[in-house]
Amino acid sequence: MRINTNRLQLRPLTIADLDALLIIHSSAEVQRFFGILDRAELADWLARVEEDWAQDGYGRAAILDGATGRLIGRAGLKRFPEYGETELGWVLEPGSWGHGFATEAAHAWVRWGFENLDVPYLTSMIAPENTRSIAVAQRLGMTALRTDMLLGEAVTVYSISRNSWPSTSPNRNEDPSQPC
Ligand SMILES: CC(C)(COP(=O)(O)OP(=O)(O)OC[C@H]1O[C@@H](n2cnc3c(N)ncnc32)[C@H](O)[C@@H]1OP(=O)(O)O)[C@@H](O)C(=O)NCCC(=O)NCCS
Repeated sequence: MRINTNRLQLRPLTIADLDALLIIHSSAEVQRFFGILDRAELADWLARVEEDWAQDGYGRAAILDGATGRLIGRAGLKRFPEYGETELGWVLEPGSWGHGFATEAAHAWVRWGFENLDVPYLTSMIAPENTRSIAVAQRLGMTALRTDMLLGEAVTVYSISRNSWPSTSPNRNEDPSQPC
């Protein structure tokens, strides 16, 4: 599966993306919210991502620069059976912040989720001090649903409901994504 947006390509992450992800996770800006993940931990995480894709038909995806094909981050959906929810997450290499790439990728995934999954709403779990990530959620039209704990850390769970999509979509008049 591949989703094309105006400036990006989204496709399933695989173990072949390990080196590119290691570079992103070696930056202090990303480690601030994900901690330090070494090569083995990221490889384990990618193995679970591959299992999610095989089991669910969707999962965490690479964000590629549409012009060059270079991996600049990741965004995608993950089903959390323990919450009965499907979560949308995003990470960009710091050099690609400030251009709207996370919002563009996440917007495409919200659209894909509501068009392809039988879910009433999608969530994003965000640390209260992660102001850039909260801004992405707000640009998508997400609002705070509740506070919760994720891996021992307090998070605010943001959500967008099927009913409010696409009325709150900032790009609803564009043609940002064409799943193919
Ligand atoms: C969270 C994260 C992905 C947000 O990145 P970001 O670059 O701030 O978000 P976007 O890519 O949507 O870009 C928004 C910025 O681009 C600007 N922008 C430019 N063109 C834009 C466009 N076409 N559409 C939207 N925004 C645009 C916005 O004004 C905003 O500018 P700002 O830097 O002044 O706030 C990034 O900070 C990150 O990877 N953080 C570390 C990992 C992390 O915390 N992930 C989330 C865990 S919950």
